[in-house]
Amino acid sequence: MSENQKKVWVTGASSGIGKAVAEKFAKENWKVAISARREELLNDMAKNSNIFAYPMDVTDQNKTQETFRRILKDFGEIDLCIFSSGTYERKSEKGLSVENVKKVIDVNFIGVVACVKSVQEYFQNKKSGHISIVSSPVGYRGLPKSSGYTASKASLNNFTQGIYFDFKKFNVRVTLISPGFIKTALTDKNEFKMPFLKDTNYAAEKIYDGLVNKNAFEIIFPPQIAFIYKVFQILPNKVYNYLVNRFVNK
Ligand SMILES: NC(=O)c1ccc[n+]([C@@H]2O[C@H](COP(=O)([O-])OP(=O)(O)OC[C@H]3O[C@@H](n4cnc5c(N)ncnc54)[C@H](OP(=O)(O)O)[C@@H]3O)[C@@H](O)[C@H]2O)c1
Repeated sequence: MSENQKKVWVTGASSGIGKAVAEKFAKENWKVAISARREELLNDMAKNSNIFAYPMDVTDQNKTQETFRRILKDFGEIDLCIFSSGTYERKSEKGLSVENVKKVIDVNFIGVVACVKSVQEYFQNKKSGHISIVSSPVGYRGLPKSSGYTASKASLNNFTQGIYFDFKKFNVRVTLISPGFIKTALTDKNEFKMPFLKDTNYAAEKIYDGLVNKNAFEIIFPPQIAFIYKVFQILPNKVYNYLVNRFVNK
């Protein structure tokens, strides 16, 4: 390991986008701490000499705090965090279940807030560093059959934009990551044809490039989804509601 090797903490790293991103950073010779609940998957990834496993459940705030302390002790410093943990149960989203909405908000929103809280003091004292949050373009406007997921991502979008200002004062960069449809265990449950579906390697390349080589607040991909969502954001409710009702609400 070289002395100036950069260091990143990736959550939601046991599968899907988080896993591909962790492996991409390891390939680029970053030292990578990975977290998620499934320890055996993390241990398997940690066979890579640049990857180190730190299992945790993001709904356990004390454990999240303790995990970051352990990483910091082992790594000495952290340059970048990529918070990618998330859940989506398509079946439970169809009806309106208070329990499901609570569960999804707890993982997708409060879980990420807890991760940010665990690194806040460290980055604010360090006066440098970078926090990135994997949300979703669906957080920009409501969709049918998504009572919890889109609400959790809407919260995450606003939260990320809000803390962008708070951390900027401490010279800490905050980035919002908005992937379009990526083929993972999460989207494998979708029974509709997903437009512009990409694989996790594509997502990892885009995320790496956006975080390391570019400076924008939002990393949104692929370009077709970026364009559609730019338009969706400015459409009047009447037009947006008509389009979703006509083409999505089946
Ligand atoms: N795939 C897409 O098309 C897409 C599009 C937009 C946004 N996203 C977002 O991208 C992120 C990653 O999703 P993915 O598609 O890669 O799905 P995935 O393969 O299911 O990955 C989800 C990750 O989150 C972890 N996780 C879930 N609950 C957790 C908990 N309570 N504590 C700690 N870790 C937890 C999972 O690990 P364990 O089960 O081992 O804990 C897993 O590593 C999510 O935030 C998702 O909303 C995905």
